[in-house]
Amino acid sequence: MALIEQASIQAVLDACDMLEVVAPYTTLKKSGSNYMGRCPFHGEKTPSFSVDPSQKLYYCFGCGEGGNVFKFLEKKEGLEFADAVKTLAEKYGVNIHYEASSPGQERRRQERGRLLALLDQAATYYSRVLVEAKPAGAARAYLENRGFKAPVIHAFRLGYSPAAGTALLKAATTTGNDESDLLKAGLVLMRNGRTYDRFRGRLMFPFTDHRGRVLGFGARVLDDSKPKYLNSPDSDIYHKTNLVFGLGNARQSITKEDRVFIVEGYTDVLALHQAGVENAVASMGTALTEQQLREISRFTRNIYLAFDADAAGRAAMLRALELAKKHNLAVRVVEIPAGRDPADLVLDEEGLRTFNELAAAAPTLLEYQVQATLRTAGLDSSQGRVQAFSALKTVLAGAANSIERDEQLRIIADRLRLSPENVAYLMESAPRNDIEEDGGTRRRVLSHEEIAERSFLSLCLANPGEARRYLQLMTDAHFTTEPNRAAFLWVRERLAGKKVHSDMNAARLPLDDKAREALPELMIRSKTETTSPDALPELYFRLCEAELSRRIVAIKSTIVEASDESGDLRELYRLEGRRRDILKVIQDGSYETV
Ligand code: UTP
Ligand code: MN
Repeated sequence: MALIEQASIQAVLDACDMLEVVAPYTTLKKSGSNYMGRCPFHGEKTPSFSVDPSQKLYYCFGCGEGGNVFKFLEKKEGLEFADAVKTLAEKYGVNIHYEASSPGQERRRQERGRLLALLDQAATYYSRVLVEAKPAGAARAYLENRGFKAPVIHAFRLGYSPAAGTALLKAATTTGNDESDLLKAGLVLMRNGRTYDRFRGRLMFPFTDHRGRVLGFGARVLDDSKPKYLNSPDSDIYHKTNLVFGLGNARQSITKEDRVFIVEGYTDVLALHQAGVENAVASMGTALTEQQLREISRFTRNIYLAFDADAAGRAAMLRALELAKKHNLAVRVVEIPAGRDPADLVLDEEGLRTFNELAAAAPTLLEYQVQATLRTAGLDSSQGRVQAFSALKTVLAGAANSIERDEQLRIIADRLRLSPENVAYLMESAPRNDIEEDGGTRRRVLSHEEIAERSFLSLCLANPGEARRYLQLMTDAHFTTEPNRAAFLWVRERLAGKKVHSDMNAARLPLDDKAREALPELMIRSKTETTSPDALPELYFRLCEAELSRRIVAIKSTIVEASDESGDLRELYRLEGRRRDILKVIQDGSYETV
């Protein structure tokens, strides 16, 4: 895809009205130079969502979600950056220019366009065959038998591939497509120098991306023959590991409900949609991949797994637990009764009620794993308890939430009749994590140091004149995290410039990955908080003191003997002396020494 020119991005940013963009999602009221409202990213009763219409930034003091107007649209509408820019460009009548691409890039772009158009045509062709053609009678009867009605068949563009060997090939080439494109799209295959349709006599499930573009197909037999499904081969367009079945259809509902059901099968998705549960997607079998989770987490962080309760399903859930911790997701398990799957469960009213009840009572993935392990372990023998213990260690190591983990630890200690020493050991191998729950969404809890660093930087933005001299005296070693260091460098560079305000180019935010995590918060804080500029020198000294302390600790850990001859000891005394001076300055408030 050709890149949008930086100047065009800036033009869109200049033209758009952030208040208007946010308006459909929450009601904002003026508060100082910013606007406040209830956060559209997490449920809350008192407004903590702040919008700065001049910088076109937002930040929620409750859940920590923040960014610029593009990020807002990306998050709320599930768009990619370029599409967020395009959407706003259209809305505000800005012409977009693209960066020139090489002939190779241009060729690939065109090929991609052709293959996508071809796949779309194929989906249309198969669905027409399903609805109209005589030989598709068996397929129609099959769907009817399983209870799938016209609206869902239509919404998912289900189709039927004729059993004759070259029906699609003929149809596609007569409308002007090249055989080589059909090959690349995975629609046909070559055998003994002849070309055939890949999918013959099967029910066709188009694989679409989150925007509904057809990338490939899953094709089911109508009887019990094997393989049950024939899926498109991986290509430049379709990657099995990335695809989330049904995301295009489920997207809006996922964002609205702020949760998603992940099931195993295509048919489960269809059945749930038909039953009115539209926020359901499938993971192409049990192998839920990291890419799929990342794709889904763009729309919600609340994941409900509704996998089969067999061994494969449980293994997949254990893997999901680790991924969930890594990506900071809240995962729950909908325990489908043994021997059923969502598709046949929700066929009738009563089954749907059961599903909804299971969803409402869904245990967290951690609870589920602990229960499942305790259930299957032979807790009566000490050997069984030892085995369960080591299995649980693995489970708890994947836990993100410390409050919940502690609770599970108590349950485990009780059930396994563990000694306090063993519980402590179990604790140790499952280290505390800096995640806590907060009204459905989760955010990292910042350390005191990080909070002081951010307060300092936002105060700098609010008082550029004062701030410059402090910033010049500091290095990125005064900041403890990568986002804060990047934000510090950004703030210092911006404030060093002459035209401070016009230079605060919010369009650059999406391009600088590291600074972008902290900056929206800093910029919003700089306008909403009424901290007096007098706090600036104190915070400066506090950051200096913290930095010295870190250096002192680092040196101490390298000094092994009191008779150190490397000079480290002398350095240590020097740093301790400076630290005492600084503490005295802070205590006396005698900041004019800078
Ligand atoms: P299932 O066997 O449960 O199929 O496999 P299903 O989609 O629920 O179909 P029905 O309800 O029996 O008609 C679950 C998922 O595993 C993948 C597909 O993603 C399928 O939806 N799968 C299964 C394959 O890719 N190939 C196969 O041969 C079987
Ligand atoms: Mn199934």
